[in-house]
Amino acid sequence: MIVAIMAPRSGKTSGLAIPAILAAPGPVLLTSNKAANDAFTATLDARSEVGTVWTLDPQQIAHHPRETWWDILADARDLAGAKRLAGHFVAASVDESSGSDFWSTAASNTLGALFLAAASHRRPITDVLAWLASPADRTPVDLLTDAGHHAVAAQLQGTVSGATETRDGIYETARQYASCLLDPEVAAWVTPEKTLPQFDPYAFATSRDTLYLLSKDGGGSASAIIAAAADAVMRAAVTVAERASGRLDPPALCVLDEAANVCKISDLPDLYSHLGSRGVIPITILQSYRQGQRVWGETGMDALWSAATIKIVGSGIDDADFADRLSRMVGDHDMPTTSVSTSESGKSTSVSMRAERILPPDAVRALPKGTALLLATGLRIAMLDLKPWYEQPSAKVIGPASAAATKAITERAVARAEGRAE
Ligand SMILES: Nc1ncnc2c1ncn2[C@@H]1O[C@H](COP(=O)(O)OP(=O)(O)O)[C@@H](O)[C@H]1O
Ligand SMILES: [Mg+2]
Repeated sequence: MIVAIMAPRSGKTSGLAIPAILAAPGPVLLTSNKAANDAFTATLDARSEVGTVWTLDPQQIAHHPRETWWDILADARDLAGAKRLAGHFVAASVDESSGSDFWSTAASNTLGALFLAAASHRRPITDVLAWLASPADRTPVDLLTDAGHHAVAAQLQGTVSGATETRDGIYETARQYASCLLDPEVAAWVTPEKTLPQFDPYAFATSRDTLYLLSKDGGGSASAIIAAAADAVMRAAVTVAERASGRLDPPALCVLDEAANVCKISDLPDLYSHLGSRGVIPITILQSYRQGQRVWGETGMDALWSAATIKIVGSGIDDADFADRLSRMVGDHDMPTTSVSTSESGKSTSVSMRAERILPPDAVRALPKGTALLLATGLRIAMLDLKPWYEQPSAKVIGPASAAATKAITERAVARAEGRAE
């Protein structure tokens, strides 16, 4: 279980994500906020050769045609799953610090109740939008009651029949969280569509398929869909592993590139503790420790950091506390120091040992690009030279493949713009 922290443009994608994907023996999931000349284009061809490639591109960052759909409500048929889904929409919209105030909590509960109402009757997620638009509509309360969720129905009824200002505030907040679904082009990726193959997280776990989850950065965006899909895939993989021998073989690789931007799974720190023993290998890639704290809170980020059995820290760390912490973890070594003293009986020299940091904080902050510290459980800290894909022999194949895939993105973008202009 890996967490990697490196500054932008320091080789996270080219030195970690892409080599890991190219070497993966089993299914691969990738989250990314960049389509052209990045992990998506560099691995598309190679992964197409080993299995089916599934791409969710709701915001069209790769202008990828909609060739599949994923049922976002599949896991929302019980209360825990519905709440988790609502949590993804909240996390995509607000920081951890404001995710627990009254309005956020109330909106999250309401959203969860509406997801549960839709999911338990196999209704599409677009129904939830309709209910959000008209709080007076009794349908979701009736559906919840019908499905036996009496307590949730009563809670929703309480919100709906409460003080108008409060209710409207809660509903407006919930509408903001779910706003990405207002775009039919976005909602279509997660709405049943008979003519297209459905992406199935359970089948994926034992396949050699690849799932590309692409999204733009930024709050309130469709990144909730990306986080929900990544969460569903990892949980399904754990369930499949539990049902089988206990471990996925070959293991599933889940590369959460730019996780703090596009894959804010709130309980990722808890999830980490379930994944390792199940043959599900997560690689969470962040730009800084602080960036992780903004998403998971201080305690959450500490939990994620401790749960990672392999920690990789690369160049561009400009957080003094974090650099000092790492420096202390690397440890001290003894440096001989010679001192000369003069007395009546003459000059005498003595050598004493002085403890000195092996890697002082300023050296941690000045780690050269292309190097990284490796902190692995049970090993002494090591200094690594990263091996970016473009310096490997296979770059002869991967380079042109990535260029071709990037060209295809541009061509789709142009075709689309021309289509609009007509
Ligand atoms: N195909 C390539 N050939 C040569 N250098 C590259 C190539 N791709 C990326 N790089 C170099 O690697 C650096 C890191 O890129 P990247 O891995 O995308 O960074 P990150 O993911 O950390 O933001 C870039 O600044 C660039 O100089
Ligand atoms: Mg990158």
